[in-house]
Amino acid sequence: MSVISAPYTFNEEDLYVDLRPVLGRGLYLKCEGFNFAGSIKLKPATEMVEAAERAGVLTPRSVLLESSSGNMGVALSMIAASKGYRFLCVTDSRCNLSTRLVMKALGAQVHVITEPSAEGGFLRARIDYVRALCSLDDRYVWLSQYTNPENWRAHYRRTGPAIARSFPKLDVLFVGAGTTGTLMGCARYFRHWHRRVRIVAVDSVGSVTFGGAPGRRMLPGLGMSVCPPLLDESYVDEAVHVEEADTIRACHHLARRGFLFGGSTGTVVSGAMRWLAAHDSPGLTAVAIAPDLGERYLETVYQANWVEALYGEDVLLPGGPAADAAPPVLVSGPRVRHPSRRDEARTGGIRTVGPGRPAPGSWPAGSAPLRDAGDGRASDTVGEGA
Ligand SMILES: Cc1ncc(COP(=O)(O)O)c(C=O)c1O
Repeated sequence: MSVISAPYTFNEEDLYVDLRPVLGRGLYLKCEGFNFAGSIKLKPATEMVEAAERAGVLTPRSVLLESSSGNMGVALSMIAASKGYRFLCVTDSRCNLSTRLVMKALGAQVHVITEPSAEGGFLRARIDYVRALCSLDDRYVWLSQYTNPENWRAHYRRTGPAIARSFPKLDVLFVGAGTTGTLMGCARYFRHWHRRVRIVAVDSVGSVTFGGAPGRRMLPGLGMSVCPPLLDESYVDEAVHVEEADTIRACHHLARRGFLFGGSTGTVVSGAMRWLAAHDSPGLTAVAIAPDLGERYLETVYQANWVEALYGEDVLLPGGPAADAAPPVLVSGPRVRHPSRRDEARTGGIRTVGPGRPAPGSWPAGSAPLRDAGDGRASDTVGEGA
């Protein structure tokens, strides 16, 4: 029996799905969605907040601030609610509606950026916005998951050792790359471990993380529009890139066997299956990390209209375009595509902030970003009630 009094203290660390019966190849999927934040981001969020507490930078006046495509925002919302901090999440229009609603339910403020920056996409626009907030009000404490070493250390201390305990004969580990916190923490852990484990990063086509050309990416979680500062490629053996259409197909395949996972799990599973097919090594012990579950993706990955509008009507049909895609290729750069950009902004009562804000230095004197008043009303004062 587990009995807790703070929601962030519980995490199921030892659950794996054996995908052989579902996919026909040996792959163990580590399920990170069974905690009150619903994702792997519980671990870095907890470590970053506790490090800030130890450093004395959090006071009762403080407002935690973070840029997130969703799951880190939910984790911080939960931790802030439990510890009595205020929290503002800066996200963008790709963030799932249900994820935004979860953050609001937990008492967080949510600002949604609707226009990407010309050079750094949505991420750059979010970071510019966060920087502007910090320069305007010193009560904001930006945890900065993209640069904070506690992000990867959380996985060095927890995720990596948990996998090693469960799979002492591990050969290959597949890890999706967003901030690269999970990737770098696990990769560093296994580099220092007693056995050599092959670390394969899985990224989305259109992400620039491993040097590819930027392109449209509609699914939150994986991929970056600027190079992740935490990444040290010397710890990564290979990078596999996955088209979002393949991600969708993998998610639906798993769901039809009763496993409803999030979008980036579909990416990681798709990339891992390609890698395993290309290496044709039946005896390998392989683990992939599933960052979250599928319920937050019901209006996107699991919604026929959304899927067909973005990826074509036949994407889920046997023999559709993704099925005809080139055989598995291990790449140092992605298979590039340049589809037209369709920004499917979904609001559902959550206020959005946009268009893209200017860089901090160019903020007009006296102007301030719009804020969510927390009750659905707009407020144009910065730092209100913080
Ligand atoms: C859905 C999802 N995909 C991918 C990732 C990638 O993780 P990281 O930011 O550690 O690279 C995360 C992180 O929590 C996630 O929640």
